[in-house]
Amino acid sequence: MMRALMSNLPLLLDDVSVRAGATTILDRITLTITPGAPTLIVGPNGAGKSSLLRLCMGLVAPTSGRISWGGRTDHAPVRRAIVFQRPAMLRRSVAANVAYGLAQAGTLRGERAQRVAFLLERVGLAELGDRPARRLSGGEQQRLALARALARDPEILLLDEPTANLDPAATRSVEDVVRMAAQSGVKVVMASHDLGQVRRLAGEVVFMVRGAVCERAAVGDFFDRPSTSEAATFLRGDLVI
Ligand SMILES: Nc1ncnc2c1ncn2[C@@H]1O[C@H](COP(=O)(O)OP(=O)(O)OP(=O)(O)O)[C@@H](O)[C@H]1O
Ligand SMILES: [Mg+2]
Repeated sequence: MMRALMSNLPLLLDDVSVRAGATTILDRITLTITPGAPTLIVGPNGAGKSSLLRLCMGLVAPTSGRISWGGRTDHAPVRRAIVFQRPAMLRRSVAANVAYGLAQAGTLRGERAQRVAFLLERVGLAELGDRPARRLSGGEQQRLALARALARDPEILLLDEPTANLDPAATRSVEDVVRMAAQSGVKVVMASHDLGQVRRLAGEVVFMVRGAVCERAAVGDFFDRPSTSEAATFLRGDLVI
């Protein structure tokens, strides 16, 4: 009952713009995010993918338009989690970083150790709990950031290019974690530059150009029948300017 009342979904963006001075960062976005398979956000550099994720998290307020999470319009960070492009680690052990996330989510002290072990196992870092988090490799840090985000028991998990700069093995383990989270009912909204990854993970695609949503489609339709020339150009690997 509480859960239903506190639900973050659907996430509704209604004609939302975000401006910084004279610059339009997000341009009149109308979008509904509902439970289901992951939503992948794609588009060229500077299109506004990261900005859209920050907006969905409630970290930036619309300059105009409305945003609501399950009918709520406040910005209380209830059961939403975000992993940034370059996640920041606490200067503590891997396990302590996850425990910190659990404490923030209100997990009782006596339950934390077991949850830490479970989450580290889930992201394949069970052996590295005692390591200083900042000594982890890039791929390990991404997985730790995912574990920390999952510690918050999110209903929506916002991921900003979590596999950028990772090798194929590390990419695969991050994708496995994302898939597992999605299968357990977490709504994943993820920015990606990797079209192979979009095919592997997406239920639907949101294609952005210059701060606006240019196209939104089921993943198969996006790749097979893009409905805008910008999307077709992007999919060919040509420059969208
Ligand atoms: N606070 C700000 N003030 C001014 N401009 C900003 C601000 N934040 C973002 N921008 C601009 O808004 C645009 C969108 O940026 P954003 O980081 O969302 O793009 P992106 O699609 O994530 O790009 P990338 O693929 O490079 O990660 C960029 O042109 C960026 O320079
Ligand atoms: Mg970005």
